[in-house]
Amino acid sequence: MLYLLNDISSDDASYLHERARSLTDKVFGRKIYIRGLIEFSNYCSRNCVYCGIRKDNKKVQRYRLSEEEILKVCSQAHDLGFRTFVLQGGEDYYYHNDKMVSLVKKMNELFPDTATTLSIGERDSKIYADLYKNGANRFLLRHETIDKTRYGKLHPGMSFDKRMECIQTLRKLNFQTGVGFIIGLPEQKITDYVDDLMFIKDFNPHMVGIGPFISHKDTPLGGAENGDVETTLIMLSIIRLLLPKVLLPSTTALNTLSKDGSYSGFNAGANVLMLNLTPSGAREKYNLYEGKTIVDISDGVGLNVLKEKIEKKGYILDMSRGDYSLGMH
Ligand code: 5AD
Repeated sequence: MLYLLNDISSDDASYLHERARSLTDKVFGRKIYIRGLIEFSNYCSRNCVYCGIRKDNKKVQRYRLSEEEILKVCSQAHDLGFRTFVLQGGEDYYYHNDKMVSLVKKMNELFPDTATTLSIGERDSKIYADLYKNGANRFLLRHETIDKTRYGKLHPGMSFDKRMECIQTLRKLNFQTGVGFIIGLPEQKITDYVDDLMFIKDFNPHMVGIGPFISHKDTPLGGAENGDVETTLIMLSIIRLLLPKVLLPSTTALNTLSKDGSYSGFNAGANVLMLNLTPSGAREKYNLYEGKTIVDISDGVGLNVLKEKIEKKGYILDMSRGDYSLGMH
């Protein structure tokens, strides 16, 4: 792996992407699974050094959608055909325990045909269990980096062992579980990627979220160089070849750094796209990094435009739940 990553030429990379895409075609066909992302709170009690909504960034205008607002977004999106909602937020103490469970429960009651994915960070095992029991199906908790020392530096006050314990707990509870890492953080080395990839192969998750680092000026990493798109695409292809059945998003961060980045991601083996459903007024304040691109699909027109564009690029927009292992050949 190290040899491959050290010496890869652009021809090699194209070949890698072709192989990854043709494997994806074999397993999933040309389908791109659509998820609706709701960034429901940018309050966060953590201080991840790369992240724009870290606790110590006093310039962020904090917001928190009410349960009613969230359910309204879900209802409109459900009418448009969305069948997966991804609730993402900082580690907000308001939506930490009971309120989070109650929200998930209501979503499950109102939209029983729809999958709920959570991306809400670390919680106690008991809360994870309650969330699962009350209808949450999937959980994204990126490991961020598998190097314990680097993990410590990037996440002041957090523990790598705790992170791993949370990830293991989620999987044991039967969540479809997603891990992943950031590409191109300062000081990151090729050997780090190798370790991240070997961890991913070994853990065999249902989903993997990776994307380039994008600096945010109001963080300790403000002004640092961004991650690069080519490396991200190479990582996507390797992950696809390591885990043929994995659900692999072409992430917003990738699309932010490169025009048509989502499609480059699909061509490299990605097969999931998250669309932002966060109401305007809030979504501008959910800046993990700067310059976040948003495809506006708040009405059916935007969604149809996207559908046409995806089809023009040779893919098929798929609004079904798209659970792990379904639709496989
Ligand atoms: N650049 C790229 N990705 C980031 N994330 C947070 N901040 C940044 C940034 N500045 C990622 C983390 C987190 C996910 C929700 O967003 O990996 O797990």
